[in-house]
Amino acid sequence: MKYALTAVVVAFTFTPLVAFSGGDPEHVKFPQGYEKTFTKYLTANRANQKQVAKLYANKTAISSYTQGKEGASGSVIIMEIYSTKTDTDGKPVPGDHGVFEIDSLAAVAVMEKQDKWDASFPAENRTGDWGFAVYNPDGTEKSNDLNCVQCHTPLQGQDYLFTYQKLVDFVKKP
Ligand code: HEC
Repeated sequence: MKYALTAVVVAFTFTPLVAFSGGDPEHVKFPQGYEKTFTKYLTANRANQKQVAKLYANKTAISSYTQGKEGASGSVIIMEIYSTKTDTDGKPVPGDHGVFEIDSLAAVAVMEKQDKWDASFPAENRTGDWGFAVYNPDGTEKSNDLNCVQCHTPLQGQDYLFTYQKLVDFVKKP
């Protein structure tokens, strides 16, 4: 099960949106060139068992975790979301280590942590100090209606990251 992200996910219930709480591309920008400057710490099937995620952390996040701390201000985590190749039944085709075979990059989800966000960024659209936004692969905005805050807020004990333990384990590797 090393490559599956099954953890906390099943239990979410969805209440109608009261506040917006979605992604905010006005404040959380697309980190241009992240493929070259960020460190990839995980490739795994998504909890939805339909897509593959590749996870990247910037230098600030990697150095915080290396020191055994949660992400410092300026940390950025990226999740590339890939569609998968499917068989004749429409099921994703398993590849190496059970990770589905990738078809194409569908979206880039960004989480950025700042201890001093601009006052125009409503606190209810953030989780702790993390802001959210999701982009197309070319860096243009996607629909940001998903309630990012709702799903990530329960993960207070792990820096609000689903892949927290994977990042902790990754930085420990020699
Ligand atoms: C339905 C719950 C849910 C919602 C809504 C949600 N996420 Fe997540 N997010 C997850 C899960 C679960 C993961 C772990 C990877 C996976 O299995 O998809 C994750 C992982 C991430 C990651 C990688 C860091 C981490 O937490 O491990 C980023 C970045 C991210 N989400 C951004 C966003 C953004 C931006 C939005 C809003 C546009 C959003 N998420 C909305 C559940 C959610």
